[in-house]
Amino acid sequence: MNFLISLSIMRKRSFVSMVAILGAVVFGLPTAIFADTVWLSSLDLKLMTTGWGEAQADREISGSPLQINGTKFAHGIGTHAASRMRVDLGGNAKSFHARVGLDDSAHAKGSVEFIVIGDGKTLWKSGVMTGSQPAKNFSVDLSGVHALSLIVTDGDDGSSDDHADWADAAIEMKDGVSAPVALTPYEIFGIKTKGFQVNFQVGDDGRLYQLPVGGRDLNPKLRRDDEMYPQAGDGYVWEPALEMIHADGNTSTALLYDGVTRTNESADRELTRIRFHDPAYPCEVSVCFRAHRDEDLIEQWVEIRHQESGAVMLKRMASTSLLLTTNVYLTHFFGDWASEMLSPITEQLLPGTKVLDSKLGVRATQFSNPSFLLSLNGKSTETNGEVLAGSLAWSGSFQCAFDDNGRGVRALCGINPFDSDYRLKPRETFTTPTMIWVWSGHGLGDLSRKFHRWARDFGMRDGHKTRTVLLNNWEATGFDFDFNRIAGLFAPAKEIGTELFLLDDGWFGNKYPRVNDHAGLGDWQPNKKRLPDGLAPLAAAAVKEGLQFGIWMEPEMVNPKSELFEKHPDWVIRQPKRELELQRNQLVLDLTRPAVQDFEWKTIQEILSVPNISYAKWDCNRYLTQPGSSYLAPDRQSELWIDYTHALYALMEKTAKTFPNTELMLCSGGGGRADYGALKYFQEFWPSDNTDPVSRVPMQWDYSYFFPPTALAGHVTHWGNRPMHFACSVAMSARFGMDLDLNKLSAEDKAVCAGAIRAYKEIRDITSLGDLYRLEDPHQNIRGALNFVSPDQSRAVVFVFQLQDGQNVAVRPQGLDPAKRYKITELNPAPHRAALGTEGKTFTGEELMRDGILPSCTKSLEACVIELGS
Ligand code: DGJ
Repeated sequence: MNFLISLSIMRKRSFVSMVAILGAVVFGLPTAIFADTVWLSSLDLKLMTTGWGEAQADREISGSPLQINGTKFAHGIGTHAASRMRVDLGGNAKSFHARVGLDDSAHAKGSVEFIVIGDGKTLWKSGVMTGSQPAKNFSVDLSGVHALSLIVTDGDDGSSDDHADWADAAIEMKDGVSAPVALTPYEIFGIKTKGFQVNFQVGDDGRLYQLPVGGRDLNPKLRRDDEMYPQAGDGYVWEPALEMIHADGNTSTALLYDGVTRTNESADRELTRIRFHDPAYPCEVSVCFRAHRDEDLIEQWVEIRHQESGAVMLKRMASTSLLLTTNVYLTHFFGDWASEMLSPITEQLLPGTKVLDSKLGVRATQFSNPSFLLSLNGKSTETNGEVLAGSLAWSGSFQCAFDDNGRGVRALCGINPFDSDYRLKPRETFTTPTMIWVWSGHGLGDLSRKFHRWARDFGMRDGHKTRTVLLNNWEATGFDFDFNRIAGLFAPAKEIGTELFLLDDGWFGNKYPRVNDHAGLGDWQPNKKRLPDGLAPLAAAAVKEGLQFGIWMEPEMVNPKSELFEKHPDWVIRQPKRELELQRNQLVLDLTRPAVQDFEWKTIQEILSVPNISYAKWDCNRYLTQPGSSYLAPDRQSELWIDYTHALYALMEKTAKTFPNTELMLCSGGGGRADYGALKYFQEFWPSDNTDPVSRVPMQWDYSYFFPPTALAGHVTHWGNRPMHFACSVAMSARFGMDLDLNKLSAEDKAVCAGAIRAYKEIRDITSLGDLYRLEDPHQNIRGALNFVSPDQSRAVVFVFQLQDGQNVAVRPQGLDPAKRYKITELNPAPHRAALGTEGKTFTGEELMRDGILPSCTKSLEACVIELGS
């Protein structure tokens, strides 16, 4: 019995092994004293690659007995260059030996080289052998080796007649261990989450290749085009990920794969660092991935470092260069001031390069957006399809290039290479911005819910807290206010239920008072006429009324009409010999200059240290058009774009750390800084100056692909003169706020606002912390509809926004617990409208998801907010 078991276990092993075992059994010798020899030809040869024909066991490539220079061999493998085989030894082998050469069937023609590699290290090389040479005999030590690679090259002269024999090839294993197993010919490893993976293969040339995401062929033939992080100047002819000029002027880079290190950061998070080096230069690159398992989300960035004799010039350094299959649809979001995200464009990518970019310097967006969607193998819907969301975490000029070479699409995203040459000194590390990739095989809804969960954990501050209801004075007063006018807003603000008052632009400047947008930026002393005793008494008055107090600031900017500019005209970003180009009458301070960094930090500290200030809106109302710095040397001008953003992040980080209890809103003349590079220091961002709810319905829908609605400030204003109930309903589906002169509201509108605030307070835990389901796309329908479900599925809230007159059609929520019963309550019903037919009734989640609810709205600019409660 024992003997039979032994035989069956060893069935793939060689005759030599069996003799050894038989000897041990028959003669009662302990097996441990025999080496376990495994003929290479006993392994699965289907996994061996050949340049011609199929690898043969104990025969040469065309089927005759193995014979090298007149000597015949009973055992071995006949193959043909270029050939590769990999064997898993499990670290249990002792040695490998063989006799190699060109088989006589090649008629003394051909030339090849045999290479033996153990765990990436070359153990033996035959040198180029020709047909007339006798077999070369070798034996290599395999102690501790896990992966053995056997390679036959064509000797660099083409592969005709390259009949190569691994004769008498055998692996000596330790006793009692499992047999070696043939592996796929290339080392394959991947970055994996629950539902997504990206796989890489190490090529014969030592470079690293990527298998296209969404590809159906699991063993595709590697092409040079498929390199994982392609470099310019050494054979790659498409859009490169990395382009650098070495200290000696060489414009090419070659990255060979060194290895991979994995670190578990938590049960759900793994950091993978793939290391490369350039064989001709002391230059190292690490491509890093942080995989969030449950969210199918990968953060990717690249680190570049060298020890050359002088600086290296980085010309292009993408954060990602992900390779995708063909049949890819790109959805991107073009916009402008007051129409951010309002023009989603879906197009099939075709051969050529599609570029989304910005060259604005101090913000990422105004027109193109660094967040986009890629549907693979056809278009996706909310509930179906393979889709990737990409979002570059960078608040400066960006470039996302989708390079389609006819066989696949490469998505390259990173800092815009435009005018951004960057000198990297020896021993310094350049770290690219982080690219965020999120995957779903089940459509856009699932994709965004995972993105939102990650954002609450890592992408923003306090993602797991609800927010207060805010009242801002900007739309109400503009620049026209003083202490009394603002203080006069506090009592009605409190009465209506708001919890936080935000004082906007116009509170500072004395020699050049900030009474309009022409003057005062940079002079951050409270205006003595408007606020004779400064900000503190106003903040105290708000707190006394039971409100928190927040303040507007724009620390990066200066008006030429300011004391700051008079004192430091050289502090601004401008081009010498050019007429100053103003935007909104202002200039950007040069944050690469240490004195400016100190000034801005001092400004922020002074403002946020005023007692009772617990909220701030950080604005940025222009972008760069004349990118010159009088601080940077003439040969470093192109570094301004990158250094500015790095200095900005340092400032934001210091602010968030020093004032951990001060909530921060990110604003940039509307939605110019809607990106995860800055958002991690903020609780929310201002999506647009356009607060017309008719625009906000599709705008908030589009932002919600990437950002949780709690990160979007939604304020009720008179923009568009829409009915107050409609405006409130739209705003309360985001982070609710108001920007109204409450003293001028009609009694009815005031009641509607108060009701909306009461309702928001009841459901804000669901809208802030729950899962979002987008139900009816306002771009394609006469209404928009969405619902949120609390994390424990016990409650939900449905929003319906009617954009045109229509029929009363049921809205079908999603994500409910099918078995649970939910009670229907319309929140803050609109005045003068009939109540919901199902008001107060209870249904199971299954019934609600199947049959839907008839909302109370049918006419244009009506809305309906329905709570599904316990
Ligand atoms: C632009 C912002 O988007 C507005 O909300 C407002 O804060 C103004 N700046 C103030 O100047």
